[in-house]
Amino acid sequence: MKKLAIVTSGGDAPGMNAAIRALTRLAAWNGLKVIGFRRGWEGVINNDRVELDPRRVGGILHLGGTILRTIRCEEFKTEEGLRKAAETLAENDVDALVVIGGDGSARGAYALSKHTDALIVVLPASIDNDVYGTDETIGFDTAVNTALNEINKIRDTAVSHERTFIVEVMGRKRGFLALTVGLTAGAEIILVPEVRYDREKIYETLRRNAAKGKRSSIIVAAEGIGETRKLAEDIEKNVKTEVRLSVLGYVQRGGSPTARSRLLASLFAEKAIELILDGIGNKLIGIQKDEITSISLQEACTKEKPLDPKLLELAEKLAI
Ligand code: F6P
Repeated sequence: MKKLAIVTSGGDAPGMNAAIRALTRLAAWNGLKVIGFRRGWEGVINNDRVELDPRRVGGILHLGGTILRTIRCEEFKTEEGLRKAAETLAENDVDALVVIGGDGSARGAYALSKHTDALIVVLPASIDNDVYGTDETIGFDTAVNTALNEINKIRDTAVSHERTFIVEVMGRKRGFLALTVGLTAGAEIILVPEVRYDREKIYETLRRNAAKGKRSSIIVAAEGIGETRKLAEDIEKNVKTEVRLSVLGYVQRGGSPTARSRLLASLFAEKAIELILDGIGNKLIGIQKDEITSISLQEACTKEKPLDPKLLELAEKLAI
């Protein structure tokens, strides 16, 4: 085992830099050379690389984004793209590749593993927290806290004006972010793509709240439910309340990673290096019930992480 390569891929997540730093330093500690591929899978396909060493990854721990940059790469989804990427790994004598990214990146890594002898290990990093095989992804905690800070401010104006706010958080396909943000922000209603919602039930809840003396409400909705603007208009038409929509957007993807995101990045990196030194690849690292674990990439890519319905129930009970 001589050379490790690192790539960040898909949507960025706070803590990716912490992972790059930890991987590079732990690899160097164990006598491995390290290179990073720039701009996600595109960099692997085009052999766009940079040498990494402990000094080069200094001063990045607290930074959001990724110093290696990232891109959503269509070519990598083709057999030709995968073949070129495998060639680059061979050309650079890469013994192991660590992929830092979300569910799409894990699927890409799994596809690549069938074309190369290099060991492939995935460090799940995504604000969506939708990767099977880990209770939490790198960056999720930061995104939750970013959204929470914004909603605290929105709550102030909602109360002053006795308004209902729909706060749209990210999560194109899954509602993990909306659920945790909604629960911890004390949202009156949480809407996630996994659970069909009934407009009448929303109107009813808001009317009941008003009757109880709750004159302002926060609805946290995952972007994946779609049509939040139309929902805001419908609520205003059907319930006697002023409704405003606030789409939090890309602020959730940036910012300095929280201690939790940095810790996960460091622990995941440690586990990845351990596996690689033992000659084990095709794994996705995770944290399950507070333990750092690894599962096969195949399992990670073929199973769907369930949303905890108990958390939705708890949020509902806490919002009375
Ligand atoms: O990182 C995941 C995610 O934030 C999704 O929730 C969101 O829909 C998507 O990325 C949008 O990202 P992009 O515009 O980079 O494709």
